[in-house]
Amino acid sequence: RIRVGMLTSGGDCQALNATMRGIAKALYNLYDSVDIVGFRDGYRGLMYEDYRLLLKNDFSGILTQGGTLLGTSRQPFKQMTQPDENGNNKVELMKATYRKLGLDCLCVLGGNGSQKTANLLRQEGLNIVSLPKTIDNDLFGTDETFGFQSAVEIASNAIDCIHTTAASHGRVFIVEVMGHKVGWLTLYAGIAGGADIILIPEIPYDIKAIIEALQKRQRAGSRFSIIVVAEGAISKETAALSKKERKTKLASRRYPSVAYEIGAEIQAITGQEVRVTVPGHTQRGGAPNPYDRVLSSRLGARAAKLISEGRFGEMVVIRNNEITSIPLEESAGKLKTVDPNSSIVEEARLLGLSFGDR
Ligand code: F6P
Repeated sequence: RIRVGMLTSGGDCQALNATMRGIAKALYNLYDSVDIVGFRDGYRGLMYEDYRLLLKNDFSGILTQGGTLLGTSRQPFKQMTQPDENGNNKVELMKATYRKLGLDCLCVLGGNGSQKTANLLRQEGLNIVSLPKTIDNDLFGTDETFGFQSAVEIASNAIDCIHTTAASHGRVFIVEVMGHKVGWLTLYAGIAGGADIILIPEIPYDIKAIIEALQKRQRAGSRFSIIVVAEGAISKETAALSKKERKTKLASRRYPSVAYEIGAEIQAITGQEVRVTVPGHTQRGGAPNPYDRVLSSRLGARAAKLISEGRFGEMVVIRNNEITSIPLEESAGKLKTVDPNSSIVEEARLLGLSFGDR
């Protein structure tokens, strides 16, 4: 007999339900009797005893459903150690719910911030198994996070659609892709969508280099160009600032986002017609793609196996196509960024893609 808690925390993604289903299916397979307690809206549900018992039926038919059947919320890690509006210690509230419900373990499906909180709860003595969720693919210790490949698909579809209209009008198009502070999603979607210029936070751009790349294409006879820019991309000048100065500069930006800023600069310097497209949260919506369904099912199954072996305080990960696990303390809070010298960046350059840096 086993009693397991589950919560989904932070920004949602396509494969949260598929992952919970994976955990549940494997638990039902491994144990004669399983209680699954689902907390609503992430850590908030754990703090305020907002939960429901999930039955076998709840996991039926959800492999292909985006979103999360439990709901989610953002509970910034920085605020976890501060009291709530009633002066209660949030960590103590969560521990109390866990103990009151007699849980054997808590499964946390979350991104970077959520993993930090999971690690904090582990340090406080709770049995935690965590699973790497995010379209940003920025969790350290895993080759991929679930949600990433589905988002790559949506962002590349957006670029595909832009291609035909950009070609008809002979315009420069900028597609802004999510990814928070890292460029994984932009890099993959940019290559998959046949972009001409890819701008990612890890390789600060130089507007002059972007314009040179555009003019080189024009000289070669191309009527249009597609720039795919990560929402977190920064210029070389901004990258050279201190963290504080950078924050102030970005906060006082005259444009809604980096794509609009670059678009205005290109238009002002070259007089070319530029259009900006931001697929935004569509990148997190809809059904998980087959790759993510497989990844989530595998991660979920392994999470259940860890529970059955009494191995807690670990995050299940994929490495070299094998599912394994690593101690939460090794990964929690560490960002996995794109290495500018990695093979994928080099291959993109070999394909003639510009990163707007030289
Ligand atoms: O972490 C996932 C993500 O979609 C990022 O790519 C993006 O920066 C952020 O969440 C958007 O957050 P919100 O849903 O709070 O607007």
